[in-house]
Amino acid sequence: MSETRIIDASDPAAQNKVVEEVVGLLSAGEIVALPTETVYGLGADALNADAVAKVFAAKERPEFDPLIVHVGSYEQVDEVAEVPEEIKEVVAKLMKAHWPGPLTLVLPKKDCVPDIVTSGLPSVAVRMSAHPIMKAIVRGLGNPIAAPSANRFGRISPTSASAVEKELAGRISAIVDGGACREGLESTIIRPEAGEKRPTLHMLRSGPVTKEMLQRFGKVERPKRNRSNEAPEAPGQLANHYAPVTPLRLLRKFEDFKPEAGKKYGLLSYCGAEKTGFINAYEWDQVEQLSPGNGKLAEAAVRFFFVLRQLDESGVDEIIAEPVSETGLGVAIMDKLRRASVR
Ligand code: TXA
Ligand code: MG
Repeated sequence: MSETRIIDASDPAAQNKVVEEVVGLLSAGEIVALPTETVYGLGADALNADAVAKVFAAKERPEFDPLIVHVGSYEQVDEVAEVPEEIKEVVAKLMKAHWPGPLTLVLPKKDCVPDIVTSGLPSVAVRMSAHPIMKAIVRGLGNPIAAPSANRFGRISPTSASAVEKELAGRISAIVDGGACREGLESTIIRPEAGEKRPTLHMLRSGPVTKEMLQRFGKVERPKRNRSNEAPEAPGQLANHYAPVTPLRLLRKFEDFKPEAGKKYGLLSYCGAEKTGFINAYEWDQVEQLSPGNGKLAEAAVRFFFVLRQLDESGVDEIIAEPVSETGLGVAIMDKLRRASVR
């Protein structure tokens, strides 16, 4: 493909023009990287199978991995999904509480959604983004937008326009620069199901909407840990995802680290804690902190993919990652670290 244009969306006064331009591109079947509150997505008109095929090609994404469909209104959910009577109530409650926001719901799909979007599955994953530009573009297009994260398949998700550029420049029509992503981790994915007493919420991917936040809506089943690359329920949740090019090792304790002479090591530190962390235990060639100084998981989540990319580009031979506490947002961070460490 030819040149990828960067469309600056930082000036609120110019927003209408940006939206109009991007809607024009999407209507013409082009693919455009778009900001969301979680990570940047690579958007196509979800009802245009040829446009969606371009998304798979640009990302080098295997066709068995379905895309998330972004809607601009509750009515649009009914256009693409058939919500079964027995889960209508819980779905409505979940949407009211977490939409627009980082929660994706897997629901039975309607025929108008091309098979390429859902990889032939009978379900469709839907979410409503809270990012003002994304919201305005979905509404302007009138059709839902299929948008996976705007990285090449299996690589680090982009949380800024410049990260998208590194992943996809030359492969897509344009990148809308809407600033850094507020959440920094991909949406939580759940499949609601009717249960005997309460609904069951199958968590297919951990994310910003945590297990603790979902418990009041039903019984939450956590995702199974996938050690192989075989058929997880969210087909994109393969064991080796979010992988930097540089090998990454997640270490429980520093004693397990046996450095090889002449090799350069980078540290992915949680908060630079001198006693509990690894920061002072070795002469690292490069150190990046997820939550500099204060150890806040929310800050670590926002910085996670950015920091991983920094280390990947730093020229070290291996990245050593400290564990973070596996509660709240830490569950999603540890899940990603585990996947990033699988070779
Ligand atoms: O925050 C997000 O969700 C971002 C932004 C751009 O919206 N998108 C994102 O998309 O993370 P992607 O393609 O990187 O991840 C989508 C995940 C994959 O693991 C895929 O397998 C799963 O959603 N998925 C999509 N449709 C599904 C379905 N019908 N059933 C189960 N899993 C599904
Ligand atoms: Mg992704």
